Amino acid sequence: MKIAAFSCREDEIGYFEGYGKQYGIDLVWTSNAPGLDNAKLVEGCQAVSVITTPIAEDLIRVWHKYGIKVISTRTVGYEHIHYQLAASLGITVSNVSYSAHTVAEYTVMCILMAIRRMKTIMTRYIGQDYSLKQVRGRELCHMTIGVIGTGQIGENVIANLSGFGCKILAYDPYPKETVKKYAEYVSLDRLWSASDLITLHAPATEETYHLIDEETLKQMKDGVILINAARGSLIHTTALIAALESGKVGAAALDVLEEEGKIYYKDFKYAATGHHEMAILQAMPQVLMTPHTAFFTDEAVSDMIEYSISSCLKTLTGENNPWKIN
Ligand code: COI
Repeated sequence: MKIAAFSCREDEIGYFEGYGKQYGIDLVWTSNAPGLDNAKLVEGCQAVSVITTPIAEDLIRVWHKYGIKVISTRTVGYEHIHYQLAASLGITVSNVSYSAHTVAEYTVMCILMAIRRMKTIMTRYIGQDYSLKQVRGRELCHMTIGVIGTGQIGENVIANLSGFGCKILAYDPYPKETVKKYAEYVSLDRLWSASDLITLHAPATEETYHLIDEETLKQMKDGVILINAARGSLIHTTALIAALESGKVGAAALDVLEEEGKIYYKDFKYAATGHHEMAILQAMPQVLMTPHTAFFTDEAVSDMIEYSISSCLKTLTGENNPWKIN
């Protein structure tokens, strides 16, 4: 079996080589993102491994002509792949799972940094301003935290937060018994109105698109804090900016952002990003921005590559593939 791996970062190569050997597969890899210009790379391969690049109809059709049977994304989210078309051509699309602790722990860090005004404290320190103006924080144990989405990540966030003694409200269309030990499931309306801080852990779907918008923001407490380490599309960015400017939203920590795809994981040190909303948010002292790094741990990167290879292998050998999407 041969896999073509696209968008390979330097830190992934060792894992690809190690797991390739362990699973007995041949690999061809490139640091370039998949596109029509490099489609020929998949010649002789049965599967491709990709990350976040949108995989649209034209590319899927070309890969299909080359005999590709599996498209595996080394990510949990798979909204960037036209998996319905792939299915109609007999191509299996699969995602991966990885240590749910990685995003959950990062989320707790973002929560603590947001409530303790850490961006302001740290930037002031760099400028040798050690005053206490506007950096007084809040204690988590006195707050009500709303968690939207109780899949693996949301559930881990809740378990981690339970140690802080805060009140935890949760919303998910599919409640879990294990979560009820630490959190109270409530309606979305109640979660909006009763939470001091809301953290998002839902996938990007039609239902969750702009879940936080002008209308839902109105239902929230004044000064609410928002955390998003899920997907940028969950928040209407211009509505959030207006709410931050008016003080309706007191602070935010955003590891993801609408239209981040062309920017994150690239170096813009000497160039303009052209992302105006990002520039406005980044300039706000109460907004902590990180470039979609919540997933990025040794354990998660190892899992992403092992499970991407393993899922290609399972599909091609007719085994049950737990990561199959379509
Ligand atoms: C995912 O696995 O879905 C992520 O969000 C991380 C990825 C963008 C590298």
